[in-house]
Amino acid sequence: MAKYSIAWMPGDGIGNDVMEATRIVLDTMKLDAEYVPCDIGWEFWCREGNALPDRTVKALQGTTCGLFGAITSKPQDDAKEELAPELKSKGLVYFSPIVKLRQMFNLHTNMRPCKSYPGNPLNYRGTLQANPSGGELLIDQVVFRENTEGMYGGVEFYPLPESVYTALCANPKMKPWKDKGLENVALSTRIMSKQGCASICRQAFEFAKKNGRKRVTLIEKPNVLRETGGLMMRVFREMAKEYPGIWADDANIDAICMWMFKNPQDYSVLVAENMFGDIVSDLCAGLVGGLGFAPSANLGDKYAVFEPTHGSAPKYAGQYKVNPIAMLLTARMMLDWLGEKERAAKLESAIARVIKEGKVRTYDLGGSGSTLDVAKAIAAYAA
Ligand code: NAI
Ligand code: MG
Repeated sequence: MAKYSIAWMPGDGIGNDVMEATRIVLDTMKLDAEYVPCDIGWEFWCREGNALPDRTVKALQGTTCGLFGAITSKPQDDAKEELAPELKSKGLVYFSPIVKLRQMFNLHTNMRPCKSYPGNPLNYRGTLQANPSGGELLIDQVVFRENTEGMYGGVEFYPLPESVYTALCANPKMKPWKDKGLENVALSTRIMSKQGCASICRQAFEFAKKNGRKRVTLIEKPNVLRETGGLMMRVFREMAKEYPGIWADDANIDAICMWMFKNPQDYSVLVAENMFGDIVSDLCAGLVGGLGFAPSANLGDKYAVFEPTHGSAPKYAGQYKVNPIAMLLTARMMLDWLGEKERAAKLESAIARVIKEGKVRTYDLGGSGSTLDVAKAIAAYAA
């Protein structure tokens, strides 16, 4: 029996291309694992009315962790349009299978490292004021994004149930929407718990402590989102007292987008609720070469699902054109989580070496190499 059982979820579009690339590398590295193919994604929504079939959830329960490529998601009306004819009248509602997975398996922490590897032509060069020499700025940030609550918690209404509407209308601040009428109002909530805030802040501080990081920055907007933002801020500040060696500061989501653009090398560990973490991690990805370089891990207490930050990029599906490095850095995170520290380090240095040499590159780096060419070059150094 293999040491690890890994749920293998390529999903849609380029998810398949980059997962195939990853398999080449993992096989070359002789990871002692069995890979359990699992159905997930758009195809299963269209055919079965469920993008995350029950058999997949069951299969996942028997595995050590999951590796996931990408899925295609579409707005509700488009999703209904693409359902198989016999399913159209069943009142099915589309949900993102990855969001569902995060909630079902309580994968409360989304960890997104953004690191620039020397020699990447897409490395950020900073603004002229911050970096007059124009050389590459080496960035090494890790975003901790709360993964199950906040704006993406999935508690939304349209139309609002009468009881919810009535309860809300007891608040005089509801007047403008009351005047507009129940049928014209949609509601998405931002619900946060003290436990959720404490858990994500704890992960960020502990990571900083273990890895000798000197700064943890909370991203919020408590001056406007007074209750949820205020709760997160209080929890963060209270916890910071337990880590006297770490500089704990905070920034508003809008302001940090500007500061990050100006001085990205100043930031180290960032912590945020779900939506703000989503936004800022794409910004961080842009600073280190784009979506082709951004891995992530969805971490729970006992289970984890690893996925690149990018989506299914339908226009490149099956063409083996996209960069597999985000997916390979994701596999590196998985190896690290499994305790395969040596393999994880070897894979990262193989990736760094191929980036630096610049001989095999995909289109996003100005090259003409294929997804699998890059994987093979990396595999050769990681063997
Ligand atoms: P996307 O990330 O799929 O692609 C946007 C663009 O980024 C691509 O057209 C391509 O130019 C570039 N890109 C992405 N990955 C790349 C890679 N590995 N190498 C080189 N270039 C790369 O985002 P988009 O187009 O907004 O969404 C497409 C679909 O993916 C949608 O259905 C969306 O809902 C879904 N999506 C799924 C995610 C997930 O599975 N977690 C995350 C983001 C989007
Ligand atoms: Mg995103």
